[in-house]
Amino acid sequence: MPAGPPEVVIRRATTADIEDLAGVGSESFREAYGPHSGAADIEAHIAANFSPAAIREGFAGGLSDFYIASASGEAAGMARVRLAGCPLPGGDADALELQQLYVLARLRRHGLGRLLVEQAIAHARQAGAAGVWLSAWEFADWAVQFYKDVGFAPIGKVDFKLGSAVYTDLLMWRPL
Ligand SMILES: CC(C)(COP(=O)(O)OP(=O)(O)OC[C@H]1O[C@@H](n2cnc3c(N)ncnc32)[C@H](O)[C@@H]1OP(=O)(O)O)[C@@H](O)C(=O)NCCC(=O)NCCS
Repeated sequence: MPAGPPEVVIRRATTADIEDLAGVGSESFREAYGPHSGAADIEAHIAANFSPAAIREGFAGGLSDFYIASASGEAAGMARVRLAGCPLPGGDADALELQQLYVLARLRRHGLGRLLVEQAIAHARQAGAAGVWLSAWEFADWAVQFYKDVGFAPIGKVDFKLGSAVYTDLLMWRPL
């Protein structure tokens, strides 16, 4: 019998979720960007940003907040946010950065990404921010289209370092 749609739950993550956040973030990043970059650069980026140690550092001192999405009880997506001014004109100094948003490939297009963005927006509103910004690789058509569909618009471009390589990201802003 075909499986029905997954039962999706989104919640604020705690340090008890570090292994799940690291697992989902690493796997989703590798799936999405592995085909577009060298393996050494991908693995260096994962070690620096999605290892349990990197996630733990994000929790430490309240540097970042994390949300975790589960689908039918399995960790399936994550978002990382922090209060930070938008670095380009067109955004606002009182803002929230959506630093990481990742959903496992097999669970995409089930609404997890949209729900995680809604959590980030609720987080920004609660903090009194004027908007949310993020950066996405200019050729990641899937991500750029997704962000446009949930209310973000490009306001400029920034460099993005991935291991030893430098790519161009679109900076996108969503006013609240
Ligand atoms: C971008 C990402 C987080 C979207 O998550 P998701 O759970 O698949 O998105 P949703 O199911 O909530 O999609 C919401 C809407 O966004 C749009 N959308 C999502 N994925 C899309 C795609 N691949 N192409 C075009 N539009 C897309 C659609 O309008 C979609 O609504 P619909 O499914 O009813 O048509 C997910 O594709 C992902 O993790 N990608 C790899 C990692 C990545 O690139 N992250 C962003 C880093 S900057």
